[in-house]
Amino acid sequence: MAKLPRDRTERVGEPARIGVLNGPNLNLLGSREPHHYGTRTLAEIESLLRERAGADGVSLTFFQSNDEGEIVDWVQANTGAVDAWLVNAAALTHTSVALRDALDGSGRPFVEVHLSNVFAREPFRHTSLLSDLAIGVIAGFRASSYLFGLEALIRHLRGSAGAGAE
Ligand code: DQA
Repeated sequence: MAKLPRDRTERVGEPARIGVLNGPNLNLLGSREPHHYGTRTLAEIESLLRERAGADGVSLTFFQSNDEGEIVDWVQANTGAVDAWLVNAAALTHTSVALRDALDGSGRPFVEVHLSNVFAREPFRHTSLLSDLAIGVIAGFRASSYLFGLEALIRHLRGSAGAGAE
């Protein structure tokens, strides 16, 4: 079956469905290095996103794992059930060809987010194996990075943002 173009959704006129992917160690948000990641827990971030998505009639599927294989499996298993991904791959951002291939293979657009400003940190965090496939990247706004990323995805799916659009 032909893949859909990356910037189009499958279900015209239907509520958008977004898969929110969280990589290793993000289960510890709230207590983990708050100077980098802020003080909100992942559960709090999830409820902020659900509130924002609900206001727009967007449905969210939320997932976190510390296991690269589980994350790849989750992307494969949920590709048919989402229109786009919101991705904080955490450390896998900098290392995982497997996750890159899974997201690429899904044919779904995604926004890459980071709580911290990865470019102001160690050099190994300046490289992402995902960014060139992403619609865009948001980093450094703590929990708000997710909200900004969700907003960008919703606009993208509605066709009011994206390559070449203001
Ligand atoms: C992170 C940045 C990554 O470099 C790091 O490994 C993380 C979190 C962030 O959200 O700032 O675990 O993705």
